[in-house]
Amino acid sequence: MDYKLIDFPIHGNHEGKLVALEKNNEFPFEIKRVYYIWDTVHDAIRGKHAHKDLQQVIICVKGECDFILDDGKTRETVHLNNPAQGLYITNNIWREFTNFSKDCVVMVLASEHYNPKDYIHDYHEFLKEASCNR
Ligand code: TYD
Repeated sequence: MDYKLIDFPIHGNHEGKLVALEKNNEFPFEIKRVYYIWDTVHDAIRGKHAHKDLQQVIICVKGECDFILDDGKTRETVHLNNPAQGLYITNNIWREFTNFSKDCVVMVLASEHYNPKDYIHDYHEFLKEASCNR
């Protein structure tokens, strides 16, 4: 499965912690868009799509949730619960997230502006695209 977990440097001291993100050796792209989701029902399944041309880093800044990744061949669940760790994914990955804790806040940093045409919402279409791009 093509994804990376990135550990961000933590700044801070006994009074608190801070992570700063911009394109550099640790962070792979220029950030053009940020969105975040919270107040999500525990067993809701969000996402359920793939992207044609998008890089994203997904950070669970509070609480925890499961991120399910599917490349058309295998499925893998990544548990996110660390605000100093980002899940980096790009194209050809079907993604779903679920098992949200009540306090869960997920922040997503994206390499492109919002473009509904970049989404693949149909799983069978995704399987076709993924096998062509392999
Ligand atoms: P959607 O991508 O369906 O969320 P999820 O995959 O988590 O279920 O987006 C929900 C709504 O928010 C939809 O109406 C589109 C809108 N939206 C934007 O306007 N800009 C964005 O960057 C994103 C991600 C969504």
